[in-house]
Amino acid sequence: MPVFYNTLCCHKPNIINSFTTVTAMNSYKPLEWNPQIIQRYDMAGPRYTSYPTAPQFRSDFSEVALFNAISRSNKQLKPLSLYFHIPFCESLCYYCGCNKIVTPNKDRAAPYLIRLIHEIEIQADIFNSARVVKQLHWGGGTPTFISDDEMSLLMKTTRKFFNLLDNDEGEYSIEVHPGTVSTSTMSHLRKLGFNRVSMGIQDFDETVQKAVNRFNTYEEVETLVNSIRADGYKSISMDLIYGLPHQTEYSFAQTLDKVIALSPDRLSLFNYAHMPHLFKSQQLIHEEDLPSAELKLGLLHYAIDRLQAAGYIYIGMDHFAKPSDELVIAQQEGKLQRNFQGYSTHGDCDLLAFGVSAISAIDNVYMQNAKNINDYQAKLDEGLLPYIKGFTLNQEDELRKFIINQLICHFELSFNSIKEKFSVDMQSYFTRELQELTPMVDDGLISMDAQGIRVHNAGRMLIRRICMVFDEYLNNTTQVRYSKII
Ligand SMILES: C[S@@+](CC[C@H](N)C(=O)[O-])C[C@H]1O[C@@H](n2cnc3c(N)ncnc32)[C@H](O)[C@@H]1O
Ligand code: SF4
Repeated sequence: MPVFYNTLCCHKPNIINSFTTVTAMNSYKPLEWNPQIIQRYDMAGPRYTSYPTAPQFRSDFSEVALFNAISRSNKQLKPLSLYFHIPFCESLCYYCGCNKIVTPNKDRAAPYLIRLIHEIEIQADIFNSARVVKQLHWGGGTPTFISDDEMSLLMKTTRKFFNLLDNDEGEYSIEVHPGTVSTSTMSHLRKLGFNRVSMGIQDFDETVQKAVNRFNTYEEVETLVNSIRADGYKSISMDLIYGLPHQTEYSFAQTLDKVIALSPDRLSLFNYAHMPHLFKSQQLIHEEDLPSAELKLGLLHYAIDRLQAAGYIYIGMDHFAKPSDELVIAQQEGKLQRNFQGYSTHGDCDLLAFGVSAISAIDNVYMQNAKNINDYQAKLDEGLLPYIKGFTLNQEDELRKFIINQLICHFELSFNSIKEKFSVDMQSYFTRELQELTPMVDDGLISMDAQGIRVHNAGRMLIRRICMVFDEYLNNTTQVRYSKII
């Protein structure tokens, strides 16, 4: 019998009691929790994987700005983080908000890979090939949709044109759906140089899985995890979603216990973003089956406390990691960054992204590839870079980006650091913003004085709301475009 059954028996557990038992064995500071305050600040807002965020990217973006940015970053020989988007999935998970193409037809991958390889060749002509690739990530969709041979081809081409590390020192990761990947494919990927895995678990409960059409049993995941560890992968990260249909305190507590028993190095606990007006498949989820706002908040509260009690450090927003993990160390050393994959230790890298809808961040420029596969492929067939939108950050954007990054990664902002870096006096330049933060001081989310802003434990979950105060681009479409914070 797996270990987790010891903490929960078959009747509905008293969550508070089971939590108290665990906390007694660990020394962490539980979150200060006031549902009224949380609900007051819970509105739709960006996740700030970039600033400005993707809706601000413009189609009249200047190619000159892009080539200037590439030339500056080439001169500095900045290391690279490469991202490859493989959009295909075998079946549809109803909750999914990712850019994907659902098809059982594996032949769909080959024509796409031809274009992806062409894109690598074009970009390799522009980027200095001496730049070290410190980070590489295959995301999706489901990257393991492609065959082992196609994976070899893609990786071989990447190595041919870019300077990948051969000593296992790079952070080379792949997203996997544990219900659809074999242990032999994972061993194959390890041989190709991957050393990190990000696994979508979402929820182990059968009723929840049925309601969202996403299936992976605990036993399947356990077998996969054991095999991945035996292969010598350095890190396993798992995704969970709270707020899915039919989730209860009991079912979610069981899922968490199972996940803790699997001991991932990192965990993401995403808030289910239910936006059926944007993601059609979410219309297949019956709204009456979704947990109430109150229950959702309870699930989040329990999960944060349970994970901390199990020894995980709450990095912030929706991320947790073991104390020895690089993310925790980077946060302690003030070096944590945020990019399109979430929190990252590689702030020194430029992000070069390949594939449909992929977003690159090079020096002071963002550029996004066509979101539609036909448009993406057509651009490459014309010999063009497949981007359709971009954004060039001006000094004001750089200043606000820095502030948002400091707050979201380190939960504090020193006014002196802004003076030194941007020659800006926070108190006179951001009078409106600092005034807007005052109610948050009164509500105990932050403290503020002449030295700076410090986000308290209670404000960690609401960090998106705090950052929104410094976002110049929010307008009345914000509530439609973005998901709610909690
Ligand atoms: C790029 S996606 C999918 C990765 C991979 N295809 C899989 O299914 O495991 C990464 C994560 O986004 C999360 N996600 C997808 N749709 C979401 C939604 N509507 N709300 C919250 N999280 C979502 C899921 O946790 C998922 O594992
Ligand atoms: S969650 Fe993953 S596997 Fe499911 S549809 Fe989305 S991208 Fe595909």
